[in-house]
Amino acid sequence: MSLEVKGDYALALQRVVSGHPLVSRLHLFPEVGSTNDEALRLARGGAPSGTLVVADRQTAGRGRHGRRWESPGGLGLWFSLLVRPDLPLNRAFGVTAAAAVALATLIPEFTGRVAGIRWPNDLLVGPRKVAGLLAELAGRGERVDFVVLGVGLNVGQGEHDFPAEIRAEATSLSLLAGHPLDRSAALDRFLAHFATWCASLTQDDGAGVRREWVRLAPMIGQDVRVDLGGEPSERFTGRAAGLAEDGALVIATPGGERLVRAADVRLLRPTGGGDG
Ligand code: BTN
Repeated sequence: MSLEVKGDYALALQRVVSGHPLVSRLHLFPEVGSTNDEALRLARGGAPSGTLVVADRQTAGRGRHGRRWESPGGLGLWFSLLVRPDLPLNRAFGVTAAAAVALATLIPEFTGRVAGIRWPNDLLVGPRKVAGLLAELAGRGERVDFVVLGVGLNVGQGEHDFPAEIRAEATSLSLLAGHPLDRSAALDRFLAHFATWCASLTQDDGAGVRREWVRLAPMIGQDVRVDLGGEPSERFTGRAAGLAEDGALVIATPGGERLVRAADVRLLRPTGGGDG
């Protein structure tokens, strides 16, 4: 284990991961650019499945579509878990879905509030985002070589800890619960739920995880606006009809079904019910 953070957080994290079947090594940094970048570097160097990189603070935290992920010190759980599942590439989504389901399950445990998954991997309570997932993977032939699961979970922020431009859209576990919460306890619950869903992946080819993902995703069955990006950006509307085996979102449109793999997808008529 490489431990470079002194103090309670380091000790608490060490207690959480020690002996945990999903964690083989812990790399803990007081500050790092991005835990995903560190985990990718370690993965390419042959690090084993279960390598966990945690940072107290990230200076270049990354979100989807190259967006910045705010990662101040002392307030959030910023980590990347390297996994090497024995799966065909087109089933790698199961691992990400298992992580999203794990997050959606732990959020109510800490806050008493229902969390929803917004495709592909945002975790929302009401209209506000409390966590995001950035999965980056590499293949070896047709199989998965590794997946780096980058998780950003807002834990201790008060409203004014968020920059003004995201204040109306972001929240934290502590804000939702109304009292301070512990980052290492959140990691503990994440690992417990993630382990359960990963075990199920090997038994049913991911069908159970996908079912649970759909159950937790209020946008399924609703009318949505899809923004595929690009210049000029391509947009269309339709009904979010389901989740394909490879993680694509199925959108029913008057012209037939479309599979969406990289896009921003929002409800046409937001309900404020965790689906953005
Ligand atoms: C998103 O919502 O767009 C995904 C956000 C993922 C943020 C986490 S924080 C830990 C890991 N390191 C990063 O640079 N990003 C992920």
